[in-house]
Amino acid sequence: MIKAAILGYGTVGSGVFNVIKSNSRLVNERAGQEIEIKYVLDLRDFPGDPVEKVLTHDFEDIIGDPEVKIVIEVMGGINPAFDFTKRCLEEGMNVCTSNKELVAEHGLELMKTARENDVNYFFEASCGGGIPIIRALNDCLTADDIDEITGILNGTTNFILTEMAEKGTGFGKVLKQAQANGFAERDPSADIDAFDPARKLAILASIVFGSSVDYRDIYTEGIRHITAEDIKYASTLGYAVKLLAEAKRTEDGVRAYVAPFLVDPSHPLYPINGVMNAVYVHGNMLGDAVFTGAGAGSLPTASAVVADVIGAARHDGKRAYCGWKHDEKLALASNDSVKRKYLVRILTEDEGNANRVFSPEGFLDTISIGELEDEIAFITPELSEEEFNTKAKAFGKVISRIRFY
Ligand code: HSE
Repeated sequence: MIKAAILGYGTVGSGVFNVIKSNSRLVNERAGQEIEIKYVLDLRDFPGDPVEKVLTHDFEDIIGDPEVKIVIEVMGGINPAFDFTKRCLEEGMNVCTSNKELVAEHGLELMKTARENDVNYFFEASCGGGIPIIRALNDCLTADDIDEITGILNGTTNFILTEMAEKGTGFGKVLKQAQANGFAERDPSADIDAFDPARKLAILASIVFGSSVDYRDIYTEGIRHITAEDIKYASTLGYAVKLLAEAKRTEDGVRAYVAPFLVDPSHPLYPINGVMNAVYVHGNMLGDAVFTGAGAGSLPTASAVVADVIGAARHDGKRAYCGWKHDEKLALASNDSVKRKYLVRILTEDEGNANRVFSPEGFLDTISIGELEDEIAFITPELSEEEFNTKAKAFGKVISRIRFY
């Protein structure tokens, strides 16, 4: 038998408790031994909940108990999760987490502490919820040189963009609906301003490219500015707007982007709708692979956490391989020279100026978009980021612009 403790009985923590209880027979069989939850740490009380029997309000109960070999940190946030995780690893306890903020910020340091103490720090659930992507990169794709990883890594924003496309509703209204349905946080900034997928991309890119990618170095643009009209233009052209998180090795080094893109129907991420997440990987031997599944939610996330718990039980006393291993930070290459086409919306009166500055092949028919008499739109020729930004500055008022993927 191996004893475990859960730190945090929120959405994911209660899911983990549930998965371990509901699937106990197969979880134990696959772990090779019985997994017993000895403690659940939370500041709150849960009268009538089965967790009451193992609930504690004091972390010292867990850290002081030599029987605890696996700690499941699902508190979220940096503090006190960082201190608790570090102390558990130093005490020789394995730690499994879904905490993407903590992994993106201190993952390498925590893995080093785990290494020094002969235990493992697992974080499958930190990216893509229930999708098995981290284990796929660390185990299944180790024969490949991966040169690109691109994902839809945020369920909330994918849900918002899908609803906007399917119902023609504006961003603000869909966000309010998403909050009312529990799909979006009351403070949705990490999702809609895309820091959440940037953190997840940083974790995945660190595993793929070996050195730490700092999410703050990744060009990050959210979806706050995307309007119902932008989405209508996209669908009129046969495209979807998707918030993509991409890291790619190029001749200049590794480049990374998180931004809304116009994605065409032939792209594997085009059909990923609603709260689903997906990750596209390109390997030099494998070619293309796409991993799709529930990117958020209590049970899907808990499923990935419990798989890590099983992994920790199987690796008791052994170190698991992780591709993210070098101490030095990965300096990302500039995106300035990346060439793309852009969909640009401008005021009708600026048509002549647009012709001079952007040289578009023509202007789009906006009749089907409706009620946009004062504006016109065009697709630019391929331009580098730098060229586009210089032209846009010289041009003046651009209503909106979205990159084609
Ligand atoms: N807020 C996140 C999302 C939760 O919407 O994807 C899962 O990390």
